[in-house]
Amino acid sequence: MKPTIHTIGNHAGEEVTIGCWLANKRSSGKIAFMQLRDGTGFIQGVVVKAEVGEELFQQVKGLGQESSLYVTGVVQADDRAPSGYELTVKNVEVIQHAEDYPITPKEHGTEFLMDHRHLWIRSSKQHAVLRIRDVIINATYRFYHERGFTKVDPPILTANSAEGTTELFHTKYFDEDAFLSQSGQLYMEAAAMAFQRVYSFGPTFRAEKSKTRRHLIEFWMIEPEMAFVDHEESLEIQEEYVSYLAQAVLNEAKAELKVLGRDTEQLEKIKAPFARITYKEAIERLQAKDYEIKWGEDLGAPHETELANQFDTPVFITHWPKDIKAFYMKPDPENEDVVLCADLIAPEGYGEIIGGSQRIDDYSLMEERFKEHDLSDDAYRWYLQLREYGSVPHSGFGLGLERTVAWLSGTEHVRETIPFPRLLNRLYP
Ligand code: 4AD
Ligand code: MG
Repeated sequence: MKPTIHTIGNHAGEEVTIGCWLANKRSSGKIAFMQLRDGTGFIQGVVVKAEVGEELFQQVKGLGQESSLYVTGVVQADDRAPSGYELTVKNVEVIQHAEDYPITPKEHGTEFLMDHRHLWIRSSKQHAVLRIRDVIINATYRFYHERGFTKVDPPILTANSAEGTTELFHTKYFDEDAFLSQSGQLYMEAAAMAFQRVYSFGPTFRAEKSKTRRHLIEFWMIEPEMAFVDHEESLEIQEEYVSYLAQAVLNEAKAELKVLGRDTEQLEKIKAPFARITYKEAIERLQAKDYEIKWGEDLGAPHETELANQFDTPVFITHWPKDIKAFYMKPDPENEDVVLCADLIAPEGYGEIIGGSQRIDDYSLMEERFKEHDLSDDAYRWYLQLREYGSVPHSGFGLGLERTVAWLSGTEHVRETIPFPRLLNRLYP
């Protein structure tokens, strides 16, 4: 492997050549400091005129931000440098000379930055957030494979809707109507009957007219589905998974957390078991704080934040009224008005990061729900058949990747947690 800034510590004292970009520079008459980035990290290159000669020194001084370069230099340990090393530059080969890079180290407004997202992702903070995303993605694959789950990929183009019909993206599928998937869940239930424990990890689409810091039109979801697992056991798997993600970020993204100024004490607290309250108790707690909310109403962001602030860990809100939850959720045998489900609310105002439930496994009850919800037999016949041929108790959940990245990295808005966000009024770049 060629040396990179990330691995440069293995080459202390040696001369190396790295492909990189000029992130920033400053210079005096005799010495120039180049802030170099190669996608794996940042390092300072020190160019001394007396060492490299007048011509190269002047060339370096004239380089624009984001010029692409091959820089050759000797790796020096330096305690003051954030990476622990700096480069004493011997030679610079310019690949392309860039001029007037639009994103200068000065402040820009959000719209401007979003219009330049293709460049903005090079900036140290954006880069750190997306590196944390990668840590979470990797940790997810590890977590489920270590526990014997099989990854199954549900389709993106579907003839049915998993989470209600109001937020569907419609498209033509030759002569038929098709929709972009809102959730792979229904297919994952079929997969669980074939492989027992499965998970999917893919993009999902919601034509939501919401313009909040928690909503994307296209987002990625991790959806485990487990045969022979009830609601309670599913909650245990959820809290174990989320704790595992927090540990992974703490262990594998130390430098990134530092760049972002993330309060790591908050992350240390993310340890199973998590707090659990019922929806009924949630309503009572809100009413006690003078919120105008009644049993049967959905919770909004301020409600979630208020409840989250009452606990040290993330909190599960369980047993919601069946009328405000999805058609496939299993009623609680002890109280048929509520269903065996939970939303997991993250601390610090990051909101709901998981929605999950035990699923209806009884054929006639599912058939009844189909009638109530006016679901067409044609598109859902296969789903009903799962209750006909070897139906078993099963549960599953969906974790929103971007909200989780926002929370663990301490990023205010989900638009910065995905490389190219699709928002209510943004399809560019
Ligand atoms: O609660 P949701 O809608 O649940 C489902 O889709 C289930 N079918 C999942 C399952 O049981 N297999 O979505 C799950 C999670 C939410 O908790 C949230 O983290 C995220 O997906 N999410 C969004 N993230 C960003 N933008 C949006 N518009 C989101 N909608 C949901
Ligand atoms: Mg939900």
